[in-house]
Amino acid sequence: MKQIIILLVFIMMLAACKNKNTNYSKKEGAQQEFDLLAAKKLSTQQCALCHNNESMPGERIGPTIAEIKKAYMIDNKDQASFVKAIQNWVAKLDPSISKMPEAIQKYNVMPMGAYKTNDVANIARYWYQQKEEKKSDILPTTPEEKGIAIALGTKKVLGKNLMGTIQKKGTSEALEFCNENAIKLTDSMANKFQATIRRLSDKARNPDNQADAAALEVITQYKKELSLGKALDAVVQDKGEIQQFYYPITTNSMCLQCHGVPQKNIKPAVLKNIKARYPLDKALGYDVNQLRGVWSITFSK
Ligand code: HEC
Ligand code: HEC
Repeated sequence: MKQIIILLVFIMMLAACKNKNTNYSKKEGAQQEFDLLAAKKLSTQQCALCHNNESMPGERIGPTIAEIKKAYMIDNKDQASFVKAIQNWVAKLDPSISKMPEAIQKYNVMPMGAYKTNDVANIARYWYQQKEEKKSDILPTTPEEKGIAIALGTKKVLGKNLMGTIQKKGTSEALEFCNENAIKLTDSMANKFQATIRRLSDKARNPDNQADAAALEVITQYKKELSLGKALDAVVQDKGEIQQFYYPITTNSMCLQCHGVPQKNIKPAVLKNIKARYPLDKALGYDVNQLRGVWSITFSK
């Protein structure tokens, strides 16, 4: 009897393992089980903030995916070992195993995030299989592309400053930074592109960022699409001389330390600071991959 139970437990464990690993165990290269689009989405949500390939305006936060790929392909030519090496890095974030010490010098060590091992494996697979992007594919030409370029450029400037401050001083001080400099930063990007750039939300922290009726309509639409698992696209509205452009702002794990669930994700000291500065704050209680707001960008044609 005892043996049978042990055997049953063993079989169940095997089945569980198999379930967890259906995508990849032993089957590196069996492409039909690997969802490239889903992996691309994961990469966009979790890594692209700091690693995107596009040569967009604004300063970089980290090396591009192409640069990482080049450094990692030297020792890891096949997909399985490439995936392992990337997973190993994300799990440890230990400078002594870095394959890009020059990137650490330039950008500082990659910060911790709540990355799932399986997600990272799929992202690495996507990186491995991704073709080099052509310059002509990424230069903004249509109003939509121009708007996206501005949104991502601004996001990078904000993100880089935010990340740098969090690393150097901790979250509480980064909050101060956000408070005093967020607007100034978007203004400097606006000058660069001769555009007006705002971040609007249905649940704003700063009341000045409360979405108006037109933005709320777009936000409602985005939320609906997100709940259906659809990819969110830019919205471009032609208003004669002016183009009005909206682009979604979604949350990743980094955001939760200031926009997540109070006791769970936000440290008491940070929460106290938020409450003191933003008594009307509504921007709490978010999880990852939710709609935090929109970029609202206007520029003349
Ligand atoms: C908040 C910004 C940020 C996010 C998000 C981020 N990274 Fe990084 N990453 C960096 C920075 C900065 C570096 C360069 C410094 C370094 O090598 O540690 C880096 C370096 C790397 C490297 C090279 C490490 C080395 O030195 O050998 C890999 C691999 C990597 N990232 C993978 C990922 C993956 C996969 C994701 C998404 C799951 C991700 N990163 C998300 C900031 C980020
Ligand atoms: C260190 C704390 C901190 C982190 C981390 C943080 N935010 Fe914020 N966020 C703030 C503060 C403070 C404001 C209010 C800024 C202001 O006064 O304009 C804000 C405002 C915003 C706004 C403008 C709308 C509003 O509510 O006023 C958006 C959109 C936003 N954050 C999105 C994000 C996203 C997305 C992330 C993650 C990528 C993120 N934030 C990470 C602190 C943070």
